[in-house]
Amino acid sequence: MIDNRIKAVKNFVRAGSFVADVGADHGYLAIELVQSGRASKVIATEKNIGPFEALSKNISGFNQIEARLGDGLHIISAGEVDSICIAGMGGALIQKILDDAPEVVQAARQLILQPMNGVKKIRTWLAENNWVIADEDLAEASGIIYEIICAEKNPAPKTFKRDASPLKQKFLRQRLEKLQRVLDEMSKSPSASSSEKFSALQAEIDALSRLC
Ligand SMILES: C[S@@+](CC[C@H](N)C(=O)[O-])C[C@H]1O[C@@H](n2cnc3c(N)ncnc32)[C@H](O)[C@@H]1O
Repeated sequence: MIDNRIKAVKNFVRAGSFVADVGADHGYLAIELVQSGRASKVIATEKNIGPFEALSKNISGFNQIEARLGDGLHIISAGEVDSICIAGMGGALIQKILDDAPEVVQAARQLILQPMNGVKKIRTWLAENNWVIADEDLAEASGIIYEIICAEKNPAPKTFKRDASPLKQKFLRQRLEKLQRVLDEMSKSPSASSSEKFSALQAEIDALSRLC
């Protein structure tokens, strides 16, 4: 189903792009990209045979979408795509997929990432690898608010969609509640509650509380 999360990823892709949709699963993002005209071509990759078969079936009839079976960006050549979308995976896996194919990543002009967790690590990875966050958005689907990051090499400064999003306050409150639950758990252990992680978490909660 094309939900707000997939639409938000699609909205960051520049019109006419050659796109890699890594871990395409059902292929909904790939289909949305060509139907909307955002993509001239999509290479939709899948590592696992079950989703690959579903993907191949769903995209039949869409000539601009090519399904490839394999791991991450290994099955794409440098320069084949200018936009790389990786959505619905954990931050560590996204980072590994990017690290494993430096030539393909370097040849791209946009990375559009929607991590399910580990967003901080993704931000750090982007900064360490000379990518600048050009824009960010929030999207709600089935009651969950997702973060979507669009990174480019030399983006023009602009106001982030996320800052104007009607979901911003709700997202901050949900994140505050989640961090508070982790802190409460850590408080039960003397070693955890005297750790650096505990202090960092407390500082993040204090900062978030000021924004909510
Ligand atoms: C949770 S689904 C997300 C699907 C879709 N991208 C979305 O956002 O709705 C993750 C998909 O990534 C695939 N996957 C996991 N690791 C992968 C890898 N290294 N390379 C390609 N696909 C991978 C899984 O088989 C699964 O279909």
